[in-house]
Amino acid sequence: MECEARRFVEKRKTALNRLWSTLATLGILSAWSTTVGCHKPSLTPQEQEGKHLYTVRCAHCHEDNDLGLKKVPPDLHHVFAGNTLPSGAPATDAEASKVVLEGRGSMPSFAGRFTGEQMKALVAYLHTGLR
Ligand code: HEC
Repeated sequence: MECEARRFVEKRKTALNRLWSTLATLGILSAWSTTVGCHKPSLTPQEQEGKHLYTVRCAHCHEDNDLGLKKVPPDLHHVFAGNTLPSGAPATDAEASKVVLEGRGSMPSFAGRFTGEQMKALVAYLHTGLR
């Protein structure tokens, strides 16, 4: 009888140990994934403002093409990654700001819609690759 009880306790103990080591492994794995792969550096306040402006003013066209434009608005993720913008114009801050201010093809002009600071924030956010 005593032996039976001891065996029962031993079994519980090993089950508990296994549980703890599983939990510890999971903890280490999740800490590792945050530091190594999955963690994105956070946006600066300026980039965050740009993200907000992009989300409310640009994304409906550039991500959803909600107006069903025939010329599908180009994907702006990594728009500054190469030397040129989708149109072939140089990928510079000045050129991107010009497109926003003057419009291009079926993209409307945003002249007077953004302050200088907001334009800078938008461009800064485009530089993040739209994180
Ligand atoms: C009504 C839909 C629409 C909205 C809103 C819109 N765009 Fe566009 N955008 C377009 C279209 C269409 C093009 C492609 C223009 C072309 O080359 O004919 C474009 C092109 C661009 C380009 C590439 C220009 C080039 O020279 O290749 C950039 C950069 C851009 N848009 C940024 C923005 C930003 C930033 C916003 C928000 C402030 C925005 N767009 C809002 C439709 C839109």
